[in-house]
Amino acid sequence: MNFPKLKNKLILAPMEDVSNLPFRLLCKKYGAAMAYTQQISAVALIRNNLKSLSFAVTSPKDCPVGLQLFGRNPDVLVEAAKKVGANFDVIDLNFGCPSKKVVAQGYGSALLKEKDRIHKIIAVLVKHCNKPITVKMRSGFKQVEAVKLVKVMEDAGAAAITLHARTQAQKYSGKADWGIIKEAKDVVSIPIIGNGDVTSPESAKELLDSTGCDFIMIGRAAMNNPLIFRDILHFFKTGKIIETSKEEKIGLIFEYFSLDPSGSLPKWKMVAQHFTKGIPGSPSLRDKLTKAASKEAMEQLLQEFKEK
Ligand SMILES: Cc1cc2nc3c(=O)[nH]c(=O)nc-3n(C[C@H](O)[C@H](O)[C@H](O)COP(=O)(O)O)c2cc1C
Repeated sequence: MNFPKLKNKLILAPMEDVSNLPFRLLCKKYGAAMAYTQQISAVALIRNNLKSLSFAVTSPKDCPVGLQLFGRNPDVLVEAAKKVGANFDVIDLNFGCPSKKVVAQGYGSALLKEKDRIHKIIAVLVKHCNKPITVKMRSGFKQVEAVKLVKVMEDAGAAAITLHARTQAQKYSGKADWGIIKEAKDVVSIPIIGNGDVTSPESAKELLDSTGCDFIMIGRAAMNNPLIFRDILHFFKTGKIIETSKEEKIGLIFEYFSLDPSGSLPKWKMVAQHFTKGIPGSPSLRDKLTKAASKEAMEQLLQEFKEK
């Protein structure tokens, strides 16, 4: 099955503890054409782990949306995809997570060392799930092997591949090597979603232009500023940069609150910490927000800061 047709080229990245339903809705409102859930353990889903099940909640406004699973047993992945995947447009496989804990269990980027298993996982999911199966990968484990790997994935039936152009060994250090995205794009005919270090409208354009990738995925820059999707689309259309005011940035936090009324105080604080980054005078605001005892106290601090 093919990757869905999207209204533009911008996709929100799967991010643990960040890409929940309210955040995805906010990014969609400001222009993201598609989003993914955070990585969810297939084993935990089939064991009815309530936290994992809560990560797989979606809504009609969230579509098109991908469910990102991690696991290494094809049958378990199929069971999890069938259990919670009905309302998702795409099932995505995490072959990219570099974390020590995940790698130690043979999940995420550790699978990049096992081409046969990768092939089998994708092929089994394609056969048994009535959805496009996509993959999110790094450019290799210790060494760059993206060209070989994307061919294996395409051959197994993947509908699209997101390539974060760093190896597992690089974690988040250095700069993503977009040349690898171009090399991957040149050897497969399925869509390639370029990922890594898009931080501005200009860098979004450069990634698209220099690699020919079909879509771009944005993670950390969106985590700190969901307006980046709007800004990039505006730049593509007009060549102009939008200056965002302090009021608009603070307004985004209130918008998040209204989309996530049953969220928790730590989650609201995390969002406020992220969205206030870069606003002049915000370090002291963030300090006060950390100590706030309730959402109402946070709202008061934010309102005062906005009007200052
Ligand atoms: C807080 C955080 C959580 C992440 N969680 C996931 C995840 O659950 N699944 C995944 O495939 N990648 C995850 N990533 C990686 C991002 O999806 C993305 O590949 C990476 O941040 C590079 O893109 P960027 O430079 O636009 O941030 C995470 C990244 C961050 C910063």
